[in-house]
Amino acid sequence: MKKPDDHILVIFGASGDLTFRKLVPAIFDLYMQDLLPGHFAMLGVSRSEMSDEAFRNKMKEGIQRFAKFNNSGDDKINNFCKILYYQAIDTSAEEDYAKVKSRLEELDGPCNTCGNYTYYLSAPPSLYTVIPGFLAAHDLNKSESNWRRIIIEKPFGTDLKSALELNKYLLQYFDEEQIFRIDHYLGKETVQNILVTRFANSIYEPLWNSNFIHHVEITAAENLGVGSRGGYYDPAGAMRDMVQNHLMQLLALVAMEPPTVIDAGAIRNEKIKVFQSLRPFTEADFYKNVIRGQYTSAHVQGKQTKGYREETGVNPDSRTETYVAMKFFVDNWRWGGVPFYIRTGKALPTTVSEIVIHFKPTPHKLFVENLDFCNDGNVLVLRIQPDEGILLKTGMKIPGAGFQVKNVNMDFHYKDLQETYVPSAYERLLLDCMQGDATLYTRGDGVEEAWKFVDPVIQYWHDNPDTPLYGYPAGTWGPDMADNLIDGDNLTWRYPCKNLADDGIYCEL
Ligand code: BG6
Repeated sequence: MKKPDDHILVIFGASGDLTFRKLVPAIFDLYMQDLLPGHFAMLGVSRSEMSDEAFRNKMKEGIQRFAKFNNSGDDKINNFCKILYYQAIDTSAEEDYAKVKSRLEELDGPCNTCGNYTYYLSAPPSLYTVIPGFLAAHDLNKSESNWRRIIIEKPFGTDLKSALELNKYLLQYFDEEQIFRIDHYLGKETVQNILVTRFANSIYEPLWNSNFIHHVEITAAENLGVGSRGGYYDPAGAMRDMVQNHLMQLLALVAMEPPTVIDAGAIRNEKIKVFQSLRPFTEADFYKNVIRGQYTSAHVQGKQTKGYREETGVNPDSRTETYVAMKFFVDNWRWGGVPFYIRTGKALPTTVSEIVIHFKPTPHKLFVENLDFCNDGNVLVLRIQPDEGILLKTGMKIPGAGFQVKNVNMDFHYKDLQETYVPSAYERLLLDCMQGDATLYTRGDGVEEAWKFVDPVIQYWHDNPDTPLYGYPAGTWGPDMADNLIDGDNLTWRYPCKNLADDGIYCEL
């Protein structure tokens, strides 16, 4: 693989959790695989005063705890840490950016990094409309002879209006080609594999439409509650935190038309068409087809767990949703009439993300002894995490007299691949940005279109606070109301377990 150009990666928000747990460990993993540029440095920028040495020591701990190659030994980690530097500034003071500039120029010489810079905004979102302008004020945004890129962490806006404003603001200082909006779900191997499953196999795509598919389910469930993130989560809620970004991206990959080539333009053009085809919610839908919930205190595995309103940083009267389930339609030729169901929640029985394609039953039911299977039809599960893999449920004759049909699993698990290294999402995405490849990043217009779909729901809840918010005990699959969303006799959500192939059995919490 061609190495990325020499450059410096500047991380704003370097004293934060993301840098410590994800970004620096991912850069270290790239280093261990010899994927970093020949000349490379990382400059951490934050408010806290810290020497390069103190920053390196802190990052070393992050690497030891979170990097995939954390067992590489002290020498390797220490050697890597030599390319980490730190600069304290008041991020909201324009004049302080002169310090960043002189530090970069100072590093450029010995590090041979040619004035190519990537800025990673892992700072509080209020600074997304500050840092780019201040970089530009110091001529750090564009250059004739070098490249400059900027990575923006989520959340990209808090509603449609703020997302539009943020895009407009960024485009004053950076061109779209320089802007990399991150959605870490797109960095997951299994998410990229949705494209490969669909477009590298000739058996699925002919069936991938309303003629053969009955409905589609997308689930992103999390076992933990909000923990220490209440302060961030309470003004956000599940719709902003998970649906607008991660789940919309999964939906786009499942529903899009085949791109002509695998590149940023072609893929992102197809994804946006999916968002543009989403049937807008009506007022009736806000009650019937969008279900929101909030977890309440419960006894889980012998322990009393906190309800959402008792979590640190959460308003004790909060009406923020920690669970959302929705039914909606993609109004286009391929998907006309096929319901899509998505759900996400905190404090659910297990942590699992998956896409479930339910195929229509056969047109004529020959094996009447087994109506259960005939009614269910075949099911394809694309498991994002954990126990990453693919599962196809298919009918098989039970040996012996008559024609009894049994549902059996054909399953592939990533863990069965020998010697195949699966990079972390941040590792993949950082490497792509270093190579200037935005395929797995979201484009400005795509983010806006996704907001256009979910924003009316958020606005409706805001304007009509009495819209039902159902309580569900922590450790359960969300409000019962969500079960009624699924149309069809005896149809329900798939209740997945940690192991891909297990369902409909006792699930380990
Ligand atoms: C983040 C959300 O974007 O995604 C978190 O802010 C959520 O609330 C997380 O827990 C889920 O990511 P993953 O990779 O653990 O599924």
